[in-house]
Amino acid sequence: MEKKNIDWSNLGFGYVHTDYRYVSNYKNGAWDDGVLTEDANIVLNECAGVLQYAQTVFEGLKAYTTEDGHIVTFRPDLNAERLEASAARLEMPVFPKERFVDAVTRTVKANAAYVPPYGSGATLYIRPYMFGSNPVIGVKPADEYQFRIFCTPVGPYFKGGAKPLTIRVSDFDRAAPHGTGNIKAGLNYAMSLHAIVTAHQEGYDENMYLDPGTRTKVEETGGANFLFITKDNKVVTPKSDSILPSITRRSLVHVAREYLGLEVEEREVYLDEVKDFAECGLCGTAAVISPVGKIVDHGKEICLPSGMAEMGPVTKKLYDTLTGIQMGRLEAPSGWIHVIE
Ligand code: PLP
Ligand code: COI
Repeated sequence: MEKKNIDWSNLGFGYVHTDYRYVSNYKNGAWDDGVLTEDANIVLNECAGVLQYAQTVFEGLKAYTTEDGHIVTFRPDLNAERLEASAARLEMPVFPKERFVDAVTRTVKANAAYVPPYGSGATLYIRPYMFGSNPVIGVKPADEYQFRIFCTPVGPYFKGGAKPLTIRVSDFDRAAPHGTGNIKAGLNYAMSLHAIVTAHQEGYDENMYLDPGTRTKVEETGGANFLFITKDNKVVTPKSDSILPSITRRSLVHVAREYLGLEVEEREVYLDEVKDFAECGLCGTAAVISPVGKIVDHGKEICLPSGMAEMGPVTKKLYDTLTGIQMGRLEAPSGWIHVIE
């Protein structure tokens, strides 16, 4: 298969039209068989549930070309499970796990020409999503849904790649104490748009959101969970019911313990203690692990000892081990790598 003529190493995190996408419709209580289509456009009734009451959930995962030339995805079963949890919270039907993994496989295979080559620094980002498609005007769940998957080749989520980021403590919350912060619903991201636009205007790369109940604890950013490293090389990651259960973070906890022999604490992390950490990183599918060099809390600067020039040493080890597993350079734990072709 011949690859598309794309300048892989200069890709940003954006949408590139690829050849095929997967579509399945839910009607009368059942999903249809699903097809691959070349049509990237969706025609919807003006009153569709997704347009009126934001009834939509999504996922994000990546396909990689391994060192020995296979195309693989990373733990797609966990994305299927999280989509199920997200859908349940918004009263949407379940798209079965085996069908999810099969649909991801078919979509990536059909777009194999867009999977960036090994060593290019780029990957294929896969976006499964589901939305209420029939007219809904009283506030209630839709009766009909569409599940789709498209993919797009991407480079680094943050401009500058592995250069440490400067983030600010946000005055806005992205979640409510018993809300939807722990699911991957479009509504959480709509909530965060004003905060990210103003953060960028003020020269910050991202927002650190605090717990919405007390505003004393670190939660996550708009698109990634936090990892901190203590001065004695312990990995600390915030535990909260209102953050997204990141698959990257859960994988890194295992990598830290089992591959690197590091101690890991998953616990509440107070903003007050952040000044004592040695390193900080943002972890997620899009972010991979992006180092944070500085956190600004209303004019008060917290400068991580790892500095603004490069990733801290423990963060770098975590990054190298995780990407080594994803790209087939290191042996993966059983079930983590799903081979597509
Ligand atoms: N937190 C938020 C708010 C996200 O949008 C994401 C991205 O998916 C993550 C965390 C990281 O999750 P994952 O590692 O499963 O991609
Ligand atoms: C992902 O990492 O998959 C996400 O969905 C984050 C998003 C902000 C791009």
